[in-house]
Amino acid sequence: MAVVTAVLPVPAAGEPDSEEPAADNPLTTKEGWRRFVDTEPSPPVLLDAAALASLDAAQRAGYDEARIDYHAGLPLVNTPVIRQVIGTSRLLIQLNRHQVSARRGVIISGASGTGKTTALSQLGRACELAARKRHPQDRHRLPVVYITVPPAATPRMVAIEFARFFGLPAPARANLTDVTNAVCATASHTKVDLVLVDEIHNISLATRAGAEVSDTLKYFAERLPATFVYAGLDVDEIGLFAGTRGRQIAGRFTLIAARPFDYGTTGQRDTWRGLTSTMESSLRLHQHKPGILTGLDEYLFGRTSGMIGSLSQLIRGAAILAIQDAPSRSPGTCSTWSQSTTPRNAPPAGGPAAGARPRPRRELPAKAADPGATRPARNRRLLPGPPGQPARPGPG
Ligand SMILES: Nc1ncnc2c1ncn2[C@@H]1O[C@H](COP(=O)(O)OP(=O)(O)O)[C@@H](O)[C@H]1O
Ligand SMILES: [Mg+2]
Repeated sequence: MAVVTAVLPVPAAGEPDSEEPAADNPLTTKEGWRRFVDTEPSPPVLLDAAALASLDAAQRAGYDEARIDYHAGLPLVNTPVIRQVIGTSRLLIQLNRHQVSARRGVIISGASGTGKTTALSQLGRACELAARKRHPQDRHRLPVVYITVPPAATPRMVAIEFARFFGLPAPARANLTDVTNAVCATASHTKVDLVLVDEIHNISLATRAGAEVSDTLKYFAERLPATFVYAGLDVDEIGLFAGTRGRQIAGRFTLIAARPFDYGTTGQRDTWRGLTSTMESSLRLHQHKPGILTGLDEYLFGRTSGMIGSLSQLIRGAAILAIQDAPSRSPGTCSTWSQSTTPRNAPPAGGPAAGARPRPRRELPAKAADPGATRPARNRRLLPGPPGQPARPGPG
């Protein structure tokens, strides 16, 4: 598998915006989605020692706050799953343009924190930017729609999610057909090409309501000349592909598994190291020695179980602590932070310690461990915190 190298843009945190999207999920409205697509990351410029020393307290606080914001949402890494999702889906979009029905789609399935939503949203962003390039004059085009399936969803709730994305009113007296027709008319008018549906694990085909929601989505997929891409937690295990209805779904969809990274073979280790290295290269810390984090890749794998969500949280948390711990800042700010940054998949108390050899995953051959791999040196600049707390780098 290729080593991860490129960095994808993500929205910068805390940017003022007059069209402030809904707080619950900013991507599920056209304004929030547009803002997400438009936002390019801009890594802060690191001042040299002389410039840093010349800042007064207020300027230094502003400088550090901007860096904290940046590290809170570091640029994304172009992972194999993102590449696979974008490659497969873009091909299907091309093929589906010539289909009047029975269009094919993609389902991204995997555990929480494996990057499904990230892959889905990056696919949408890439497609929207490409559509804008093809049609620079068409400012009313909305090539991508993003919705999430609410828990215990009913067909009407899903239709309203679509309506909410477009900003269409959905009065209480409007029935499912009214809302569906309004959504389809708007989607056709705005030339929707790609529909992203996240959290599909909220559909359970075992219940009547779940089966009806699945039918509603199928109905939208038939009526809209668009490609549908779904993402959800382990959807292959929750019965979405079981029974006649499930087999119908499975037959038309390419399943892409979002899995934790592995650390068994040399190639897998290289990929993980590439991921760590790319994340490290996006840091903007003063006292950071390049390569120090990459050298700890084995420790980081053990600490995060190969989950990109945990790795990202660990590194972002550590970077923020480094900035807050810098000598010129007041002490004491970091303790609150370390208490609140428990990586989602951090090993429990008594889990892998620093330098502990991570277990290769079950499916890897027993001899896959690379004998040439060096053990990461314990390093005081990135000490493991107590279990469940971020590693602590030196002051940033
Ligand atoms: N490609 C990536 N590069 C950097 N960080 C990522 C990437 N994918 C996911 N993450 C991190 O992992 C976290 C969880 O990802 P998410 O896409 O929400 O996972 P899922 O939807 O599978 O639960 C994100 O908030 C982000 O911090
Ligand atoms: Mg998700």
